[in-house]
Parts: sequence; C-alpha cells; structure tokens
Amino acid sequence: MAIIAVTKETRANETRVAATPETVKKLTAAGFSVVVQAGAGIAAAYPDADYAAAGATLVGGAAEAIKDADVLFKVRAPEAAEIAALKSGAIVAAALNPHQDKDTLNALAKAGASAIAMEFIPRITRAQVMDMLSSQANLAGYRAVIEGAEAYGKALPMMMTAAGTVAAAKVFIMGVGVAGLQAIATARRLGAVVTATDVRPATKEQVESLGAKFLAVEDEEFKNAQTAGGYAKEMSAEYQAKQAALVSGHIAKQDIVITTALIPGRPAPKLVNAEQVASMRAGSVLVDLAIEQGGNVVGAKLNETVITENGAKILGAANLPGRIATDASALYSRNLFALSGLFLNKEGAFAPDFEDEILKAALVTQGGEIVHPSLKTA
Ligand code: NAI
Repeated sequence: MAIIAVTKETRANETRVAATPETVKKLTAAGFSVVVQAGAGIAAAYPDADYAAAGATLVGGAAEAIKDADVLFKVRAPEAAEIAALKSGAIVAAALNPHQDKDTLNALAKAGASAIAMEFIPRITRAQVMDMLSSQANLAGYRAVIEGAEAYGKALPMMMTAAGTVAAAKVFIMGVGVAGLQAIATARRLGAVVTATDVRPATKEQVESLGAKFLAVEDEEFKNAQTAGGYAKEMSAEYQAKQAALVSGHIAKQDIVITTALIPGRPAPKLVNAEQVASMRAGSVLVDLAIEQGGNVVGAKLNETVITENGAKILGAANLPGRIATDASALYSRNLFALSGLFLNKEGAFAPDFEDEILKAALVTQGGEIVHPSLKTA
C-alpha cells in the first residue's frame, strides 16, 4: 500500500495544511496509507484526533513521517531536512514557487524526487479540480476585501441613519483574474461601489456581469493581450503609460484599491505609481495581492503596512489564503486528493503515469534532473 506523508508547514506565517481529515478519509478509501505529523493541521483548526479518526497514522516528527513515504503532500516547498528524509523517487506535490526558489528545485532534483509544482497544473477542464492557483486565489480575493475593509476607517455600504448618511465606499480592483473576480463580488456584497480594470478583453463582460464598472485602455494591444493559456501578456511600456494616464484620476477618488495583477513567470507589473499613491485621500487603503511577486503598487512592502505621507495605507501582507486557513486548507487538500487519482492505475494500484498530460505539465524534477522545459532554459 502506497504511503502519503503530510507534514507541518514550517515557512513563516504558513497556517495551511496539505490534507484535512476529510481528504485523509478519501485517500484511505482510495487505498493509500496516510501518515500525518502531529500538529500539522492545528493552525488551520484541524486537530490530530480528527486525523486519527479519519484513518491517519500520527507520528511525532517530519522526517519520521517522510522516511517511508511514496508521496509527500505539502502546501509550501519542503525544507532541507524534509528533502533529506525523502526516499529516492518519492513524489512531492506542493506550491514549489519554481521560477523563484531554485535552491529547493535543485535540492529536490538531487534527492531524486519526482516533484510536482502545483502552480504548473495546466488549465484544462480535467485538471480544474486540481487547480490550486484558482482555489487559493479565490479565497485571497475575498480576504483582500476583508483586510482592506478592516484597515479602512469608514464603512463600505451606504447607511442612512438618524444622525446622517454614511457614503458607500469606492473600491477599485486592478486585475480581474480569479482573485479579482472574487474581490469584486465580495466588495459588492459589502455594499461598495465597485470598478475594475484588466488588460484581457474577456474580463470586461465578467466585470459587468458582477455589477461593477469596467475601465481599460481598449486599443489593439488590449485586444491581443490574452495568451492561449488564458493568462495576460506583459504589456508594452507604451500601453502601461496609457493605462496609468487613464486610471490616475480614478485612483485619486478611490477609498480602497485592490491589486491582483500577475504575469506567469514574470515579476508583477507595476500598476500604481508613486504619484497615484500620493494622490489618494488620507484613510484610503491599497491592498497589494501581488506582493510576493514583487507587488503592483510602488512603495508596497512585503508583510508590512506602509502609511504614506498623505495618510494612505498600503497593505503588503503575504499569503492571504493563510488568513483563511481552514477553508484554504480544505480546498487545497481537495486539489491534492484529485491529483492523487493520477497516481493510481485502473486497478487502483500505485503506478503514477508521468506521461499523463497533467503530471507531465507539472513535473519539475525527476531522476536527479530538473525536467520542466520552462525551468531548464531559465
Ligand atoms: P493571474 O493570477 O495570472 O493574473 C491576475 C489578473 O491580472 C489577470 O486577469 C491578468 O489579466 C491581470 N493582469 C496582468 N497584467 C495586467 C495589467 N498590466 N493591468 C491589469 N491587469 C493585469 O490570473 P488568474 O487569476 O490565474 O486567471 C487567468 C485566467 O485563467 C482567467 O481568464 C481565468 O478565468 C482563467 N482560468 C481558467 C481556468 C481553467 O481551468 N480553464 C482555471 C482558472 C482560471
């Protein structure tokens, strides 16, 4: 019986866990034996006893959990001691941050691991259920509004009271992928007046269908900004200048600006420049969801709230899904459970098919080598 190990996350502020009692039960029913490091789920509110009741074997340390495992499930990349404990050939599935964290990639290759970068799960229909970028971005978009609302000293909905009227907050969402769409929906539910921008034409209708107003430079470059994979291209300096001119006056009037813009494998585009930040009113809030990829807002700092001279706040918290750890873990664990189905053959025996298009697209190291084409050339 193949063994799946789940260890406690060790990276700073990582509260999520890669399996929940629910997925342990499902993995066990599918024929896996699941070993969970004690305390692995507690920061996400999943106690050890629930894992044990679901059929997991609990062990004290990470190395003990990993040493006989055929598969290691993690949220973030394993650390050196965990990699050292891996059996050669073991599968590791985690958000490996492969474009940036080369050291871990090399260590995984050296250890002979078959490492799967969950960020590389292709966006095809069959893989949707395994798509952790989507499952986590959705929650991040929700949480960004909650964080923004918390930092904002006024209310979001319009309120008419005996003591006078409270105006509705104006919320501007920059980047309307999975996170941005959920941010629009959440801000609308809280009663804000919402506008949004993106460079992909397909987003216009999506924004409007959520009851928000769309704002973008709709030129020839905009019409071709979406790649076949559904992502945005990096826009030209000329387009970015036009975009900045268009949104400048708008940003000055906003109460909360949430930025979510990313380009796969590239630093996040800078969407809010220093003058635009300086144009905002005291008390206004910027939430930079792209901070871990370098940030969309000039002046944003990783894991800091910057208060600008004009009294605006720039929130640069990393890992917003980690602030909604119970749900984020539940969804991510289901992504991994779905992935585990690819490790079994038709008879239910452990026989991962690395030629399967999903595994092939996400496999980054195998047999001692870095095997992913986008990483070999980088
Ligand atoms: P992402 O996280 O890579 O980027 C976030 C957003 O930033 C994107 O909408 C992108 O167009 C935008 N952006 C990039 N540069 C920008 C700029 N200069 N100004 C303004 N916005 C900019 O995107 P995410 O959330 O991963 O979504 C990408 C696409 O993939 C979407 O169309 C989404 O619906 C689609 N998707 C498809 C799935 C499938 O299985 N078919 C699953 C999940 C998402």
